[in-house]
Amino acid sequence: MSPLLDRLAAHRIVPVVTATTADEGARISAALAEGGLPVAEITFRTAAAAAAIEAASARGDVLIGAGTVIRPDQVDAAVSAGARFIVSPGTSRAVMERCGEHGVPIVPGAVTATEIQAALEHGAPAVKFFPAESSGGAASLRALSAPFADVRFLPTGGISPKNMHDYLAIPSVLAVGGSWMLPPDAVRAGDWDRIVRLTREAVAIAESEHT
Ligand code: 3PG
Repeated sequence: MSPLLDRLAAHRIVPVVTATTADEGARISAALAEGGLPVAEITFRTAAAAAAIEAASARGDVLIGAGTVIRPDQVDAAVSAGARFIVSPGTSRAVMERCGEHGVPIVPGAVTATEIQAALEHGAPAVKFFPAESSGGAASLRALSAPFADVRFLPTGGISPKNMHDYLAIPSVLAVGGSWMLPPDAVRAGDWDRIVRLTREAVAIAESEHT
């Protein structure tokens, strides 16, 4: 596995961030780091995504990637803003090729056996199982892990403290992705203490898996 995926695996959780301004991206990353989770996937769901990636990357102590990357030009924007990894909701040859040109690792989305095979054929180092809960959840992922024994998964979508253990208990799961530690009302209100608290809780739950 690539050193970068090793780093994601070490954190066990990849927070999925939607930032409406660059400053919000930086503040969210700071709160995640303070809570013990110095990693973030900042999504291209807002016009501020690239600026937020740049502002968060400037801290230097948080591993910043780009999410919801569905077009090659977004790969360019993400990489020049400082993204160290790319996550996509689906598997696109054009997006994967552009990541290859930049030498940046990509985790493409796939939810069926056929989609996983396509992702592997395009050279994916790991696969995002998305949307996890509405695609059969941990039971489905466990069943898919049997034929794809060498594939590492990043299940995301509907994961929370209630069900994250179900996923983390699957040996092929690299880490779980999710936004539950970043409630939109807390972000809007600038309630960073609440986000730090929720992040600490998430880290404690992930660590309790090993005990
Ligand atoms: C994603 O883009 O990966 C998901 O929207 C995150 O899913 P969640 O908000 O259900 O955690």
